[in-house]
Amino acid sequence: MERGVTEPDSSSHHIIAHLLGAKTIESVEPGKLTEFLSREQTEQMWKLCTRRLSRMPVQYVIEEWDFRDLTLKMRPPVFIPRPATEELVELVLTDLDRKPSPGPDADAQHAFLEVGCGSGAISLSLLKSRPQLKAVALDQSLDAVNLTRENALRLGLQDRLQVYHADVLKDPEIVLDICGPVSTLVSNPPYLFSGDLSSLEPEIYRFEDHAALDGGEDGLTVIQRILALAPQILSNHGRVYLEVDHRHPSLIRRWVELNVEELQHVETHHDVTGRQPFCIFQKGNAHLEMDRR
Ligand SMILES: C[S@@+](CC[C@H](N)C(=O)[O-])C[C@H]1O[C@@H](n2cnc3c(N)ncnc32)[C@H](O)[C@@H]1O
Repeated sequence: MERGVTEPDSSSHHIIAHLLGAKTIESVEPGKLTEFLSREQTEQMWKLCTRRLSRMPVQYVIEEWDFRDLTLKMRPPVFIPRPATEELVELVLTDLDRKPSPGPDADAQHAFLEVGCGSGAISLSLLKSRPQLKAVALDQSLDAVNLTRENALRLGLQDRLQVYHADVLKDPEIVLDICGPVSTLVSNPPYLFSGDLSSLEPEIYRFEDHAALDGGEDGLTVIQRILALAPQILSNHGRVYLEVDHRHPSLIRRWVELNVEELQHVETHHDVTGRQPFCIFQKGNAHLEMDRR
C-alpha cells in the first residue's frame, strides 16, 4: 500500500501461489500454507516481492498469466492480455461456428490473420479452441514475435501458426504478401489516445511497450490502417473484429463509410461490463448471412 502498489493482496497471493507451485492461493495444497518456507523459497519470495514493489506488473513478476484456458509465458515489455479480450475471442468463435460449412474456399474459411499478436493470446486461444483453424499472426515488435513463437511451441500449436515480424503502418505490402485470403481478421490494436498515456498506472506506463498502447492522437492510426487493408486480405463475406476505445465506435463507422466502401458495419458489441466495445465489419453485404440477433 505504502508504495502505491495496486491490488497488493491479490499480487501477494499470486506470488505465494507461484512459489508453492500452484495457480491460485485457493489451489495450494492444504498444509503447504502453514509450513515454513525453505531458505531458498524465502529468498525467492523477497526477490519477487521486490520486483512487484518496483511496480512491475505481477504477470511479469511470476512470468506467466492465464488467458481463457491457456497459460502463457509473459515477458516485459510485451503487452499483458486483458480479460475483456477473452470476450473478443468468444465473439470470433461464435461467428465461426455459425458459418455455413465451407465449400470451395475452405482454406480461406479456416484461416485467420491477427494484427498485433503480443504474447499470442488471441491467436493461440482461437487455434486451441478450433483444431481446424490455421493462422498468420504479426507484430511490429520482435519481443512480441519471439514470445508468441515461444508460447505456440509450449502449447504445441506451432504447426498451425505462422508468426511474422511486420509493421502494418510501415510495411503494408509485406502484410498483403504474407497473408492469402482469410475469413477472419482479428486485432486488439494499440488504441489509446496519445494524450492519455501519461495518466496510466506506473505498472502499465513503465513496463509495457508504448507501441502496444499508443494509437496516435485520436487512437485510430493502426485501426484505420487495418480497416483500409482488410478488403485485400478478406475473402468474400469475411469479417474484421477489432477491440477499440469506448469513444471509437461511431468515429470508426463514419470513417469506414467514407473511406472503405467494400466494408459494411455488422455490429458493435460490448463486453459484460458494458465498457469495452468490439467493432465488427464485413466485406460485402453484411446482412446477407450470419446476422447475430
Ligand atoms: C494492445 S497490444 C495486443 C496484444 C495481444 N493481441 C493481446 O490482445 O494481448 C497491441 C499489439 O500490436 C502491436 N502493434 C502496434 N503497432 C503495430 C503495427 N503498426 N504493426 C503491427 N503490430 C503493431 C504491438 O506491438 C502489440 O503487441
